[in-house]
Amino acid sequence: MITVRSIPCSFSKDTVQFIGFRKVLTVRNVVSCGVSSSFRLPGSKFFPRCESSSTERATKSNRTLLDNASNFLTNLLSGGQLGTMPIAEGAVSDLFGKPLFFSLYDWFIEHGSVYKLAFGPKSFVVVSDPIVVRHILRENAFAYDKGVLADILEPIMGKGLIPADLGTWKPRRKAIVPGFHAAFLEAMVKVFGDCSERTINKLQSLLLAAEADKTMHIDVDMEAEFSNLALDIIGLSVFNYDFGSVTRESPVIKAVYGTLFEAEHRSTFYIPYWKFPLARWLVPRQRKFHEDLKIINECLDSLIQGAKETRQEDDIEALQGRDYSKVKDASLLRFLVDMKGVDVDNGQLRDDLMTMLIAGHETTAAVLTWALFLLAQNTDKLVKAQAEIDTILDQRKPTFEDIKRLQYIRLIIAEALRLYPQPPLLIRRALRQDTIPGGYRGDKDGYLIPKGTDIFISVYNLHRSPYFWDQPHEFRPERFLIPKDNKGIEGWAGFDPYRSQGALYPNEVLADFAFLPFGGGPRKCVGDQFALMESTVGLAMLLQKFEVELKDPPESLRIVTGATIHTQNGLWCKIKRRKHYSESLQ
Ligand code: HEM
Repeated sequence: MITVRSIPCSFSKDTVQFIGFRKVLTVRNVVSCGVSSSFRLPGSKFFPRCESSSTERATKSNRTLLDNASNFLTNLLSGGQLGTMPIAEGAVSDLFGKPLFFSLYDWFIEHGSVYKLAFGPKSFVVVSDPIVVRHILRENAFAYDKGVLADILEPIMGKGLIPADLGTWKPRRKAIVPGFHAAFLEAMVKVFGDCSERTINKLQSLLLAAEADKTMHIDVDMEAEFSNLALDIIGLSVFNYDFGSVTRESPVIKAVYGTLFEAEHRSTFYIPYWKFPLARWLVPRQRKFHEDLKIINECLDSLIQGAKETRQEDDIEALQGRDYSKVKDASLLRFLVDMKGVDVDNGQLRDDLMTMLIAGHETTAAVLTWALFLLAQNTDKLVKAQAEIDTILDQRKPTFEDIKRLQYIRLIIAEALRLYPQPPLLIRRALRQDTIPGGYRGDKDGYLIPKGTDIFISVYNLHRSPYFWDQPHEFRPERFLIPKDNKGIEGWAGFDPYRSQGALYPNEVLADFAFLPFGGGPRKCVGDQFALMESTVGLAMLLQKFEVELKDPPESLRIVTGATIHTQNGLWCKIKRRKHYSESLQ
């Protein structure tokens, strides 16, 4: 039997939630709640013990002296109570040994949709309600910035859209959004298909080798395979660079993964020691990080230089009207460089590209990973998906038009994003005082948010809220086809699959912010349709050719979070040829 594991990958852009907490935990040497040794996953037939069952969590009476001292200190340092806002005072042990977003769910059920998390030296307001989230992300979006997230990402993404200050963000967003126009997306569907074909070919040759040894399946870490696939796609589509990571390793690929690892390290480490003046020379991993950045920057600089040397200026309409099926370079970089009247310096372009490389890579790989994990446990849905693929594609690669007809695959992708949102938390900091709505069952007068307050928008809680979703932990792609009234919840419009005419995939408008896979408002993801189509093509092509089973029981899978929810040791699957493909090969 052949076992495959490619370069693993993990990146964290939003794990900043752990900053501060881990410091406290380490100092106190608190033991874990034991989740990591026995894990049942939500959204599957298995549920993690600590996910939402308050029975196992520390109650006020069994908290240690240190827990109580921690909460007292936090409240003191963070200005005490925020009006009538409930305060979650968990034991620090709740935070150890499992991703934070699981604990945030427990406290959401216990304290409601807006609560203050009083833990460690800092406090946060945790929001899990669509009405409140709509206010923060859309209605009063410019009263907030990315806070601690921007601090972490700035050394890597510079002035790219995600961490950018408002002054930089506005013109760059205006330039980048038109780049994701329909003709570009259509051209990219071909790239998605070609890159997915490489993964398929790789698995097929491994299977052939295994079959020569009379083994009819291979064990593959599909999380790593999806990561390679997503890296190849993002390189080609954003800056016309072929990483070729599905089939090889290179210094640039190693540098990209090295940078992603460092971002995760920084977002989960206790103190930002890398900010000390000599750290980048004295600490080996910091030296390596700067070497990796140098390799990537040199690569990006030469691509930018090449694009500038061949610049052909056009206005936006003309750029969008180019025949993308014929142009040699359909990349976003080409679009940004050719845009008339926008002379961007190389540094800004590099930050833009780096941001999209990071934002669009692991997120998409994670969606594919969890979609496969869910399907492998729900064989009826897997069979239904394969029947749709066979009817629509037979043995062809999907086209742009096919994506419109692959309805069930699209719903599977959306449902995977509902159960495993990437990232599970969005982060904001109040730039000025604001009053947020109270949300479902909250204070009718809302809550005062002082300037400087750090906010976690728990997309995970929103997506699994028992108040807004039926059977919220179940994998049911069909749910997105059924309208749902607002159940008398004032200020929430309910779920209406027809609200946003022409939308190919469920979005925040259909669910009035109860479904938020790409954020909402002015800072919404620029690559949402790109990523959804990429995932649809990647999943369809895999299921077209192979049968997939989990190698190990799902409860043995360990979850960790960085920017995305990912596995600790990979998603190991047994991959077999689909029967009719075996027959056609004989
Ligand atoms: C399934 C894949 C993806 C998911 C789940 C995802 C999710 C998100 C989310 C939730 C945000 C909003 C963050 C916030 O409000 O704090 C965001 C922003 C962003 N995403 Fe994505 N994303 C994905 C793929 C992509 C791709 C493929 C690209 C580019 C090629 C991209 C580029 C960006 C950028 C540039 C921003 C910042 C937008 C701004 O602040 O103006 N993302 N993404």
